[in-house]
Amino acid sequence: MGKAAAMTSEGTPSHSLQIRGRTVPRLGLGTWQLTGDECVDAVADALDIGYRHIDTARAYGNEREVGAGVKRSSVAREDVFLTTKIWMDDFEPQRLRRAAEDSLRELDTDYVDLLLLHWPNPGVPLQDSLSALSELRERGLTREIGVSNFPPKLLREAVALAAVFCDQVEYHPYLGQDDLLQIAGEADVMITAYAPLAHGKIFGDPTLSVIAERHNTGVGQVALAWLLAQPHVCVVPKAASHRNRVANFQAVDLKLTPEDRQAIDALPKDRREFDPAWAPDWND
Ligand SMILES: NC(=O)c1ccc[n+]([C@@H]2O[C@H](COP(=O)([O-])OP(=O)(O)OC[C@H]3O[C@@H](n4cnc5c(N)ncnc54)[C@H](OP(=O)(O)O)[C@@H]3O)[C@@H](O)[C@H]2O)c1
Repeated sequence: MGKAAAMTSEGTPSHSLQIRGRTVPRLGLGTWQLTGDECVDAVADALDIGYRHIDTARAYGNEREVGAGVKRSSVAREDVFLTTKIWMDDFEPQRLRRAAEDSLRELDTDYVDLLLLHWPNPGVPLQDSLSALSELRERGLTREIGVSNFPPKLLREAVALAAVFCDQVEYHPYLGQDDLLQIAGEADVMITAYAPLAHGKIFGDPTLSVIAERHNTGVGQVALAWLLAQPHVCVVPKAASHRNRVANFQAVDLKLTPEDRQAIDALPKDRREFDPAWAPDWND
């Protein structure tokens, strides 16, 4: 088993994960679809609320605004866990290096905490792009490296080739990721749950609503708390409003009962929100 200590003895989700000796704040702000001033404000506000983990990507076109939000907040750069991702057209090593340097320039920082391959690209040997990422880590441009949207077989391949810290994948109460969690436990890899609120589709769910009512909280907090109670898992919900960012942050302190967790476990787990033409075979 890996070294992540995700739950206290009482089963309360902890605020941070330990992966490969590094501490990662478990609840981050997703920034896809946040642009312009709204993005700057969202990042600065999230950090002021208490978030210490921000997720962006070159493809979101908002790295400049994310960087400005970090600068504007009252939180020091070194206290923020910042992730960005390289788009799949840039996996050839020279392009990958250039893309990473561009990201740092836009983010106005010397390093990111985690640099990911955004989607698998069978057109470039995985070994080549992972070696280029590893070299960037050795040069200090990123603290850790990882992948995103890698199904189990590809993740195993990646873990065998490089010190892969993370696989960021869609994960929420309507989609299971048991095989990836098994690998995460064996190899001490973080699973970052993207679209942890099923891109907003969970609101109104009857099972989650009953649990939320019992705890005097919201459906979003229940979904996030279910994820946060699992070893190796962190979450990056996106919220455009201050109100929703505050609500989501409260999930780190919500303790679900075993019965609550079983009821959420029993929901159908086959609803995928993100399946673009370039997606890999998810069963691979
Ligand atoms: N690696 C990848 O390929 C990949 C793909 C997709 C997403 N991601 C990452 O994951 C992050 C989150 O995914 P996502 O944005 O698709 O979906 P999400 O976080 O599951 O859901 C976001 C939606 O839920 C709403 N929401 C958030 N908190 C709420 C609350 N407390 N009450 C009611 N509504 C609430 C948001 O509305 P408002 O914004 O209006 O508050 C928005 O419509 C992205 O921002 C991105 O960083 C990564």
